[in-house]
Amino acid sequence: MVCPRTKEFCFLFRGGTNVACIKGEDINGRGIKMIKKIAIIGSGVMGSSIAQSFAVSGYAVTINDIKEELLSHAENRMADNLSLLMEEGVLTDQDKQRAMGNITYQVDLETAIRDADFIIEAIPEVIELKWNLYQEMETIIKPDAIVASNTSTFPISQLMEKATFADRMVITHFFNPGHLVPLVEIVQHGETKPEIVQVTLDLMRKIGKSPILLNKEIPGFIANRLQTALMREAFYLLKEGVASAADIDTAITAGPGFRWAFTGPIEIADFGGLDTWQRVFDNVSPVLDQSKQAPVLIRELVEEGKLGAKSGEGIFTYEASSASEKINQRDRNFIKLGKLKREKEEVR
Ligand SMILES: NC(=O)c1ccc[n+]([C@@H]2O[C@H](COP(=O)([O-])OP(=O)(O)OC[C@H]3O[C@@H](n4cnc5c(N)ncnc54)[C@H](O)[C@@H]3O)[C@@H](O)[C@H]2O)c1
Repeated sequence: MVCPRTKEFCFLFRGGTNVACIKGEDINGRGIKMIKKIAIIGSGVMGSSIAQSFAVSGYAVTINDIKEELLSHAENRMADNLSLLMEEGVLTDQDKQRAMGNITYQVDLETAIRDADFIIEAIPEVIELKWNLYQEMETIIKPDAIVASNTSTFPISQLMEKATFADRMVITHFFNPGHLVPLVEIVQHGETKPEIVQVTLDLMRKIGKSPILLNKEIPGFIANRLQTALMREAFYLLKEGVASAADIDTAITAGPGFRWAFTGPIEIADFGGLDTWQRVFDNVSPVLDQSKQAPVLIRELVEEGKLGAKSGEGIFTYEASSASEKINQRDRNFIKLGKLKREKEEVR
């Protein structure tokens, strides 16, 4: 059986624990049923991919931005993303059309959010912008609307410093590209009601995500802390001339990264033997990079305007079209990996 709301998308996009959805059951009694209309504020890189995830799963989504032309860019981006999913055999043309038909574009904030049941803010990472937006939202949103932020760095207590809806506020931290990476980190405020957290977790599963819940607030959440710890060492090895940038990348993509899509670091420690890992930590930890700031190499390149793929040069160099070709290939690989992960979860 398939989910009555999401039909085949439920099968194609389900997250690891969304078994109830596969059986066509409602996941959480009344809670999730109350969520029908989604509003996304900010139609950039993340807002558009989050909107797309909801639309593919059958939700009515309104996406808001400050200019029509930005909404138009978002529409094109989502159409391209959906076409890639079609080319990889994940969606049909009808699925794509239905998803695009579920999205409404709106520059007027009030019209975009006044009827919404679940609102995700995905505007730039500038605290004053977020505070101003929340203050504006307070007078508009429904009394039972749930509000989420896609912030990647601000603690939820800081986000809520000037707002009055902390009891129905969460962070839903999607990963780029948000329509392909399953992880969503959920952070709750001290005042967030437990039922709001539960509905958020259920909703993320319903759109095929793999949400995790943080038990307490911590800067960088979990995934970016882990990722930054690894990248600090990668840039240290590069600076020390231990290997080329390409070989350092291969050390991860062909080594630990190959395992990580299915086996996390904690389980890897168990599989390898905790006695072995005790020795690894004792021998290697003292010689790891301990610096407290961004790597010097990154600082220098940023000063020179070498920002990576978007400026044509960073650690590597990119021809005009090669960056977009690489991103296209990356997304195709992610789609294939997503399919493989879902197959594995089918077997469980
Ligand atoms: N880019 C990433 O990889 C990534 C990953 C995870 C989380 N995040 C977080 O997601 C959020 C958005 O990031 P992004 O990369 O999508 O940014 P972006 O710059 O691509 O998009 C932000 C959009 O918000 C719009 N905007 C600005 N003020 C607005 C307002 N008052 N009302 C409506 N729209 C407004 C902008 O016009 C822009 O289109 C940030 O909090 C960021 O930290 C980003």
